[in-house]
Amino acid sequence: MKTHNLSKIYNGKIKAVDDLNIEIGDGEIYGLLGPNGAGKTTTINMLTTRISCTKGTAIVAGYNIRKDSLMVRKTIGVVPQDLTADEDLTGRENLVMVSQFYDVPKEEYEERIPKLLELVDMTEAANRYVRTYSGGMRKRLELIVGLVHNPKILFLDEPTLGLDIQTRTQMWDYVRQIQKEMDVTIILTSHYLEEIDALADRVSIIDHGKVLVTGSPAELKSSLNGDIVTITFKEKEEAEKMKTIPGVIDTSDSGINTVRIKVANSDDSLPDIINFISSNKLSTMKLTVQKPTLDEVFLEYTGKDIRKEDPEDARKMMMNMRRLRR
Ligand SMILES: Nc1ncnc2c1ncn2[C@@H]1O[C@H](COP(=O)(O)OP(=O)(O)OP(=O)(O)O)[C@@H](O)[C@H]1O
Ligand SMILES: [Mg+2]
Repeated sequence: MKTHNLSKIYNGKIKAVDDLNIEIGDGEIYGLLGPNGAGKTTTINMLTTRISCTKGTAIVAGYNIRKDSLMVRKTIGVVPQDLTADEDLTGRENLVMVSQFYDVPKEEYEERIPKLLELVDMTEAANRYVRTYSGGMRKRLELIVGLVHNPKILFLDEPTLGLDIQTRTQMWDYVRQIQKEMDVTIILTSHYLEEIDALADRVSIIDHGKVLVTGSPAELKSSLNGDIVTITFKEKEEAEKMKTIPGVIDTSDSGINTVRIKVANSDDSLPDIINFISSNKLSTMKLTVQKPTLDEVFLEYTGKDIRKEDPEDARKMMMNMRRLRR
């Protein structure tokens, strides 16, 4: 899958997606990470041909979204940000209905549906009305509804929005399992850093409709270049002296008797740091090592802290929770 200057301008003025260029390999789990309003849903909606693009185009599963929208739709699966399953049908009935909508032959869906249900541990709940499902069960159903026609690419827009952390972690396992078993490329959006870190093989951080950086979570984290080793000593020690330790980029005082040491790679430098401590006969109270997280990567590239509570985000989450619970 590849986009070429994909752009969306709403009402002639709101640049929701601005010359977006990304390339996604077969079988990848690819994350689009960005704050509220970054353009994630707009991107997904264009790639899935739900809305038109203003400029540029994309090749999705081999088809041009502008010219072959019908083929694109047949070849992809979509789990939108909003819930879509019919609450007055059972889980199984929903799956059959969508299979028929996609013209999947009966014998084929009769074979596939039980497998999909099994994949997300929904076999037992399959004959219950969707309105009786918990939030997590609904999301699991939505996940496999997107797979009834055996798509090559599965789009997940905020697959765990409004779920509690435990249920979210479970969802990640299901997503991984689905990627493996169904041999499908997965493109997901999220503004949960842990989610992207846990799931995505590669990620593009987007803001204001533009890609700021692309790479694997590990690459992005190591590109920040520097782990932090924090040592609290029994007595005051001079941070300055520790600059001589091999691999140390910088040192600074950081609270009572505490020195913060920035090193290129803590795995390499830790033995030298320990060596320094013992050869200088220093007494330590505490030593911690912190590798960069995606939070810091995000902050570095967007200048924003993604965790800052956004009232709009809180409102959406409430709405979603309410719907999930209903
Ligand atoms: N139908 C629309 N008409 C006008 N503007 C829109 C429309 N849909 C989205 N926008 C605007 O486009 C920008 C990108 O919105 P989009 O929904 O794609 O962001 P997002 O990254 O999915 O955000 P969220 O995390 O809130 O889901 C925002 O400024 C939004 O207000
Ligand atoms: Mg969105």
